[in-house]
Amino acid sequence: MEKRRDVRNLTFKLQDHNTGTVAYVLKGFVLIFLGFIIARIYSTPGSDLRERVSVTVNSFSDLPNHCESAQPIPATEFYNRQQRLADILHSLNASAYIAEPGANAQYFGNVSTTSWKLSERPLLLIVSPILENDQPKAKIFVLTPSFESSRAKLLPIPHDKVEYIEWTEDANPYEVAASVLPSRSKIYMDDAARLFIFDGFRKALPNANVLPAHPDIKELRQRKSEAEISLLKCANEATLLAIRAVHKKMTIGMRESEARGMMSMALRAIGLENGGCLTLFGDNAALPHGSGTDRTLRESDFALFDCGGSLHGYMSDVTRTVALPPSKIPFEDLAIWMDVRTAQTMASRAAIAGAVAQDVDAEARLALQKYTAYFTHRLGHGIGLEGHETPYLRGGSLDIIKTGHTFSNEPGVYIEGKVGVRLEDCFYINANGQPVFLTENVGGQAFDPWNP
Ligand SMILES: *[C@@H]1O[C@H](CO)[C@@H](O)[C@H](O)[C@H]1NC(C)=O
Ligand SMILES: *[C@@H]1O[C@H](CO)[C@@H](O)[C@H](O)[C@H]1NC(C)=O
Repeated sequence: MEKRRDVRNLTFKLQDHNTGTVAYVLKGFVLIFLGFIIARIYSTPGSDLRERVSVTVNSFSDLPNHCESAQPIPATEFYNRQQRLADILHSLNASAYIAEPGANAQYFGNVSTTSWKLSERPLLLIVSPILENDQPKAKIFVLTPSFESSRAKLLPIPHDKVEYIEWTEDANPYEVAASVLPSRSKIYMDDAARLFIFDGFRKALPNANVLPAHPDIKELRQRKSEAEISLLKCANEATLLAIRAVHKKMTIGMRESEARGMMSMALRAIGLENGGCLTLFGDNAALPHGSGTDRTLRESDFALFDCGGSLHGYMSDVTRTVALPPSKIPFEDLAIWMDVRTAQTMASRAAIAGAVAQDVDAEARLALQKYTAYFTHRLGHGIGLEGHETPYLRGGSLDIIKTGHTFSNEPGVYIEGKVGVRLEDCFYINANGQPVFLTENVGGQAFDPWNP
């Protein structure tokens, strides 16, 4: 690959050298002409040209907000999550589940890293099962640095009576937390909690078992509710609509950075937060996570967009590999595109409740046997409050697919120096155990490279 690139660079250099003088004169003319145009645009108020420029710049403001009516997760659903966690903790004889701000604390207590940034001073959400008339009920404590307690009390935690435990600068926060917990021998930690927090509890509770979250606890967040699925659907539909809107306005000769900028605008206009896309043209797409150059789009190139954004905390992830109307895509590349599309369909048919994750991954690989060495990554990942979360669809995973699970289905073929094709739609397992694309309401899978 390196050699190929060297040869190409050399060719460019030689051409530059031979046509040097002509090129300088031509560049001069082009600069003068551009200067003239820009002067015209800004000197003539309301001129057609100026309007046209501003239309191009703001051209996605006419995209309707696709998720205007989407509702955030209601308080009742948080109560339900907390109760189910308390039931599990009780049945496991555990005294608490402890989470740092992040996806798990957000799931059980609406405490994300947006509402509380992580620092060296722990702020922790602690859910503990308390017996009331012999029934476990969820009790929520928030361990907060003393001097930050007023700010901690502003956290919008849906729960009728959060108890705040304060630790002063000269105290050991883990000992302070341990002193309020019922004396049972097991504590489960958010598995994304930082090691020093984990270690702090181990030392503060030498006779207890401080463990990473039990699989039953993780399963709560893995299996999505109807409200979560509807947010995920809206976010993923909006992402696909934004890709299609940008696709319509693309031109041969544009740069990756321009297309990336258009995608960010389109994602914002359509109602998503923190939207962005990996945007790769031609052989740049052969490196699945990008190459770092700002290539222009040629007639023989595919353009690959891998896009995501969030809606009330829930993430989207959609990839399309597209061609433009004037594109002249080599036949072998079109054949790869069709095979990747087939792989996506085959994997989707295999992903029913009860199936084993590694078998779904293998199904996609069956359709791509010609390119075994070029389908270099797993088929998919879970998606929800995090863009990538457990469980995963990969070789070696014995995870069983269950109703409410959500996954990306994203086969790809990457031939370095030549071409990269990936197609990605996320899906969920409905109540009947069947996979349904989250993008289904807006057409689902891509039809062909011209109809994404
Ligand atoms: C969750 O927190 C967000 C702010 O991060 C807030 O807008 C929302 O109302 C909270 N949800 C509930 C149910 O309290
Ligand atoms: C929980 O503790 C009780 C009594 O201490 C014991 O009988 C039971 O088997 C324990 N359950 C589990 C899941 O460890």
